[in-house]
Amino acid sequence: LSIVHNYSYDMYKETADWLLERTKIRPKVAIICGSGLGGLAEVLDDKTDFPYSDIPHFPTSTAPGHAGQLVFGRLEDHECVCMKGRFHFYEGYTCLSLQVTYPVRVFFLLGVKTLIVTNAAGALNGSYKVGDFMLIKDHINMPGFAGQNPLCGHNDERFGVRFPCMSDAYDPDLRALAKQTAKEQGLDRFLKQGVYCMLSGPTFETIAECKVLQTLGADAVGMSTVPEVVVARHCGLRVFAMSLITNIVVRDYDSNEKANHEEVLETTALRTEDLQTFIRNFITKI
Ligand code: 6GU
Repeated sequence: LSIVHNYSYDMYKETADWLLERTKIRPKVAIICGSGLGGLAEVLDDKTDFPYSDIPHFPTSTAPGHAGQLVFGRLEDHECVCMKGRFHFYEGYTCLSLQVTYPVRVFFLLGVKTLIVTNAAGALNGSYKVGDFMLIKDHINMPGFAGQNPLCGHNDERFGVRFPCMSDAYDPDLRALAKQTAKEQGLDRFLKQGVYCMLSGPTFETIAECKVLQTLGADAVGMSTVPEVVVARHCGLRVFAMSLITNIVVRDYDSNEKANHEEVLETTALRTEDLQTFIRNFITKI
């Protein structure tokens, strides 16, 4: 067997127990904050934060714009845990060894029932604008097509079944609540719903690649989220995911536009407050 697992059930359990000993918070909701969207973790009440490097067995993050902290606290009286800074496949973590998704199983063992994921994504859908929010209704696991599914290898039944269903990955009730929340907040005109395609990165897409993804039915493209969602669904967490559209992909050979990380961070800086308010309002409904 060529697939080596770095993590045993006991390691996830050790991490979870270590955290539970150090915080009184018993989170039912976990939030993974995307690029430049970690501000959400700042607004928690009764915060306890743990740098990733202090947590036993926890991977550490390297991407610019991604501080590495696990923050426990209350958001609108709901006990939750926020990942400020996530792990990306492109950083050299392998999906197969489950480093990218390590925290998700820890959340499960902490007693979390709902996972909220945010990310920054590029728009493929021509009707999307920079600054829009896209509710993710489905995904295309492109690394999965190439054998990089985090669930490859030995299946531990204590987490979930060998062949988990993914057609219901993004909870329809949570999406309906999100639409309602956005409406109440006056965000309707920024709210889209679509299909997120994950590529490994770190390169942005070529023009030809964007055309391929559009043809496949993807509305937005990014470098994260899907592995975490796959592992969350495997262990039965309810999932809600939302992309912030930070840029429009380059579709035209005559264009002078170039995708870049600065643009991604600039847009997240402009929209992070609306997103924070949205999550705050949303969480009271779930
Ligand atoms: Cl345009 N592509 C990818 N792969 N990830 C992104 C992005 C684009 N914009 C934000 N994240």
